[in-house]
Amino acid sequence: MSVEIEKANPSRPAPTRNMEEIVSLCKRRGFMFQNSEIYGGLNGFWDYGPLGVELKNNIKQAWWQDMVTSHNDMDVLPGAPGVYSMTGLDCTIIMHPQVWKCSGHYDLFHDYMVDCRESKKRYRHDQLVGRWVTVREQRIFATAQSGEEELQHIERQAMKFFKLRNKHKDQLQWDGDVIGVTDLDESAAASILAPDAKTLDTLTDPREFNLMFKTTIGALGGADDTAFLRPETAQGIFVNFKNVIDSTRFRLPLGIAQMGKSFRNEITPRNFTFRSREFEQMEIEFFCHPDSSADWYGYWRDRRMQWYQDLGLSSDRLILREHGAEEMAHYSIGTADIEYAFPFLPEGQYGELEGVAHRGDFDLRSHMEGKLTGDLELELGEDGKPKWKGSGKDLSYRDDLTNEKYVPHVIEPSAGADRATLAFLCEAYCEDEAPDEKGKMQTRTVMRLHPRLAPIKAAVFPLVKKDGMPEIAKQAYLELKKHFNVFYDDKGAVGRRYRRQDEAGTPYCITIDGQTLEDRTVTIRDRDSLKQWRVGLDDCVAAIGEGLNQK
Ligand code: GAP
Repeated sequence: MSVEIEKANPSRPAPTRNMEEIVSLCKRRGFMFQNSEIYGGLNGFWDYGPLGVELKNNIKQAWWQDMVTSHNDMDVLPGAPGVYSMTGLDCTIIMHPQVWKCSGHYDLFHDYMVDCRESKKRYRHDQLVGRWVTVREQRIFATAQSGEEELQHIERQAMKFFKLRNKHKDQLQWDGDVIGVTDLDESAAASILAPDAKTLDTLTDPREFNLMFKTTIGALGGADDTAFLRPETAQGIFVNFKNVIDSTRFRLPLGIAQMGKSFRNEITPRNFTFRSREFEQMEIEFFCHPDSSADWYGYWRDRRMQWYQDLGLSSDRLILREHGAEEMAHYSIGTADIEYAFPFLPEGQYGELEGVAHRGDFDLRSHMEGKLTGDLELELGEDGKPKWKGSGKDLSYRDDLTNEKYVPHVIEPSAGADRATLAFLCEAYCEDEAPDEKGKMQTRTVMRLHPRLAPIKAAVFPLVKKDGMPEIAKQAYLELKKHFNVFYDDKGAVGRRYRRQDEAGTPYCITIDGQTLEDRTVTIRDRDSLKQWRVGLDDCVAAIGEGLNQK
């Protein structure tokens, strides 16, 4: 039985651009918490709360299901009919130190940092931006960290330095656009005003800083026992390529997926979870014949872009940015970033969600032979011998049908689970108007999460705590719980319960009311359209299942 009883269909408002509102909702409703908060927090580390863990798990499950277990594997490349396979791995976080030498992370995975001698703050050199400004014939380069409110910060710094009040702002004579500190020549150092300094020339020279976290294996802890927390999940896949091929009957093309924690000792973690020191990646290494790798690169780039859109990111806020030749690794035929217009970035700027890279045969060959250099030559030490030994194992592939032997090329779609979670949260946060219990329109906050991602799929309410309504509601709740993550709530006015579920992103609310006692029907309310209709109590599971599939 299904009867429509009320129609309301507010058009979808644009998501908020106010990051503070999103951060506050995340804490208030239990999506995300600052790690170790009672001790003042630990910069760059975040915990997921009761709603957040469900949301992130749903994102990871959607990725695994769509990319691995239920991928469409037949005839996907025009001109290259056939099957390709996808499978998975779960490797350890600590790996043999030689892995990082051959992957290049030991030598090359670093950022340049500068310290401010006055404020004692540390910045990534490539993230400092500024603008030349002159007042009373003194010309300085006022700076800020790129990304957040940089123009306002630069102006505030200049005003403080020249001791100007707001009404004398027009004395600032700006000269040129905002440029990076890295674009200045050495002679400018004496004029640089660091982002948190009051005097000039307080920045140290840039220094290399390796981003891998170090740890020690075993009790003795000598220099040879140093190991690293993995900075990416990808290497576990490369070093197991041969194991997977030998232990399965898969032929190439084959994609091997892994999701799990990665660690980077970021110099300036910031923008909520966007740049964290501990985060989760969802990576695929797709091994294929060198002749078809360019086509597979295009395939994966488009397929990954579509995945984000299918789960609700608007194409207005999503771009696919192909790297220019100067940004690309020497061995790469193509690299593209999927980027999202996160609200903490200035209007028109985008932040990376995922990189899709054509890696050629670089990784497998490095693990066979030793770390390769720019021209795919072995890196030699001062004695002219290879600097890092590879595994010495043959990681090439022999096609048992054609008998051709080759080192496969790799396409790598590499996504961040925390960045995806943040993007879906930002996209979902909206404010619109909904009627309260008295029918008066009130502003509400609603998380319009895709139903596959929503932490709670339906909430069950007894209208009042009497007349047998809670008993019927609990029964309905227990039945629904066998199929979906559902929530039971009997506290406070029903309108307020709706609002709490809107903020949690719950697609449907089911209310057991007076009419339920008469005809065994319940009201279902849709989070987005606010439409309400009645269905038979025994049809709830089917109705919610159908609704979730159709949304
Ligand atoms: N194996 C290739 C690789 O790791 P990457 O561009 O360094 O490539 C891939 O990282 C993805 O991992 C990024 O697109 C981003 O989503 C996520 N990621 C990287 N560093 C991160 C950080 N500090 N905090 C959160 N996510 C991060």
